[in-house]
Amino acid sequence: MSGRVVREPRSLLVTGGAGFVGSAFVRYLLGQADFRGTLVNLDLLTYAGNLENVAAVADDPRYKFVRGDIADGELVGRLVREHEVDTIVHFAAESHVDRSIVAPSAFIETNVVGTFRLLEVARAAKSVHFHHVSTDEVFGSLGPTGAFREDTPYRPNSPYSASKAASDHLVRAYAHTYALPITLSNCSNNYGPYQFPEKLIPLMIMNLVEDKPLPIYGDGLNVRDWLYVDDHAEAVWRIVRSGRAGETYNVGGEGERTNLEIVRLLIDCVAAETGKARSALESLVTFVRDRPGHDRRYAIDFSKIQQELAWSPRRDLASGLRETVRFYLDHRGWLERVRTGAYRDWLRENYEQR
Ligand code: NAD
Ligand code: DAU
Repeated sequence: MSGRVVREPRSLLVTGGAGFVGSAFVRYLLGQADFRGTLVNLDLLTYAGNLENVAAVADDPRYKFVRGDIADGELVGRLVREHEVDTIVHFAAESHVDRSIVAPSAFIETNVVGTFRLLEVARAAKSVHFHHVSTDEVFGSLGPTGAFREDTPYRPNSPYSASKAASDHLVRAYAHTYALPITLSNCSNNYGPYQFPEKLIPLMIMNLVEDKPLPIYGDGLNVRDWLYVDDHAEAVWRIVRSGRAGETYNVGGEGERTNLEIVRLLIDCVAAETGKARSALESLVTFVRDRPGHDRRYAIDFSKIQQELAWSPRRDLASGLRETVRFYLDHRGWLERVRTGAYRDWLRENYEQR
């Protein structure tokens, strides 16, 4: 790293901190003994938000949870003033590509309008640093070679990625026009604990455990670059503290695999952990109709964050997947509550009645 610490945030507003990546960031930051600031977690608790994901930090005196919509400018403005927020780290989003194909409206509302409202609050507050968490999907789809760089032209292909691209453009525009201090990160596919089981890896683990078909879209040869979610959390914190204002950083996992390779690795892990026969698990592989407009390949050139901020992924894919499989095996109750919606009862009992 350059050695210089540019920012020392004292009061963070984290949006979407009850979701998969946001909750990993909240747990990561509050796990840093030398973090002496405070963190307000603003989350609407949509189907993807779950306070169980942040139960470990619920009683930390540095932490406060607020249920609310990022598009509620009045609420966000009040939180920024009351907590003297100096840094917004913005994870909240509608995040699932398949849902965006079926019902794009919420993606525009939250990802575009919601981000716009947050930016307006940050602009009015004057001295707030805004970190925007985005995705590699804004760059579109790659052929068999090459990797996305920070200067790769945007070419989003799904309503999800188009909505994230729109939000990225707004963030850039606010930096350019209003001199809002911003940083931006575009990350590849995350995996790890507490991911909603609509996404490839937790869905496949759940189905393997329950001996259900493993639905592989198309020919299964689409490539994604997989990053362990805690590594993403660390990258975001490093950018927030030491990233150059106005800059974008690509974050990737050096974990390029076809979907079929990922499923086979998961089969190996589940077979090893449960004693189930590998051949029986392999027979669950089922090729299904492809996702419309399915991007073929993503790959990330993350040399900028590596060189400027000395960040690289810590976890290799094999050990990360093993740990992830163990997590879901050890948290069958979590999986069940999320799948059936029963986690909302947990929410009522543990949060809303307080
Ligand atoms: P997620 O769907 O698991 O969580 C999203 C969270 O945002 C949930 O807690 C939800 O309740 C909250 N939320 C949704 N709408 C809201 C609103 N209007 N107001 C307040 N809160 C709201 O998503 P994720 O996978 O954790 O992704 C988080 C961010 O990281 C997103 O911006 C996504 O684009 C980005 N990202 C994700 C990945 C990945 O692989 N998961 C990779 C790169 C970037
Ligand atoms: O690249 C970063 C993006 O990764 C994030 O911005 C998104 O929020 C996140 O959801 C993820 O998007 P993907 O569409 O790549 O993830 P998903 O887990 O939905 O799918 C991964 C791959 O697996 C993709 O090629 C589609 C395929 N797939 C997915 C599901 C759910 C299947 O073959 N079968 C499935 O059932």
